[in-house]
Amino acid sequence: MSSPGATVPVIDSTAVFKEDIFRNKVLFCTGGGSGICRVMTEAVLKHGAKATIVGRKLDRLTQAANELSEATGSTCIPVQADVRIPQQLKDAVKKTIEQFGRIDFVICGAAGNFLAPISGLSENAFRTVIEIDSLGTYNTIKATLPHVRASRGSYIHVSATLHYRGTPYQAHVSAAKAAVDALSAVLAVEEGPHGVRSNVIAPGPIGGTEGMDRLSAKGPLDRSSEWETPLGRIGHSKDVANAAVFLFSDAANMVSGQRIAVDGASENVRGTLLPYPQSVLDPESVKHLIKPRL
Ligand code: COA
Repeated sequence: MSSPGATVPVIDSTAVFKEDIFRNKVLFCTGGGSGICRVMTEAVLKHGAKATIVGRKLDRLTQAANELSEATGSTCIPVQADVRIPQQLKDAVKKTIEQFGRIDFVICGAAGNFLAPISGLSENAFRTVIEIDSLGTYNTIKATLPHVRASRGSYIHVSATLHYRGTPYQAHVSAAKAAVDALSAVLAVEEGPHGVRSNVIAPGPIGGTEGMDRLSAKGPLDRSSEWETPLGRIGHSKDVANAAVFLFSDAANMVSGQRIAVDGASENVRGTLLPYPQSVLDPESVKHLIKPRL
């Protein structure tokens, strides 16, 4: 797509929302040590909240928490946990309550992804992504809900737009994110009467992220930095962070049970990630376009 029209600028939420709107609030974010979830956490911290970031790699988490605290002047603590293990999440919640006394906001962001067709996806590979994304989201909700109820707080689930259509090489993630969307909708309905809100953010292509690196075609077909949308540019992590600040803010206090795509309308004009139908007729012929396993 060429871009003859206007390109929207990247905006920081602090240019739109008051700086202290989340004072005395506490965020619990899975996957917050890197990527989009780290930028979402930074935005919430900048508006006065404190935060726990949860992930599998303690080194990365600790460094991220230190950097986030320093950059925002607020407090961010790292807690190591694998979202597939309920007890580890319960322990992470316990540490958060010991440290901060409450949980108001939860971002269910931990996720796993790679490109593989069903014919090349082992049962364990499919299960692994379902366990991280779908069960991980459920486990996070279970561990945090009593505290979010107590604070009449709010959930954001980081999903995708891939499952809105049949996206080749994304069966595992499509199934996992469809479950995440369904969980959020039920949570919104069951917990709404307790004052809890739940929404989904579905990022489109976001430049410079691990997800983009894993999912974009490599070599001459690589569009990972130049992907254009109807709004004239590729997504930025701050676009997703801005949506999160809005959804957690009182400005969204009547918004619940929604799926909000942050994709510059690209879902409406999306093609496939890899050449189609070549990628499904002859998977070997596109192997050089796929990020190799580490
Ligand atoms: N293509 C096909 N199968 C793959 C794969 C790939 N690129 N990468 C991993 N798998 C398979 C493995 O072979 C294994 O299946 P097997 O036992 O039948 O061989 C299964 O997936 C689990 O892999 P493993 O590496 O043991 O799991 P893990 O828990 O260490 O890692 C992943 C989970 C696979 C999702 C890994 O990619 C990850 O940790 N991702 C987190 C970060 C991320 O994906 N971020 C992007 C978000 S959009």
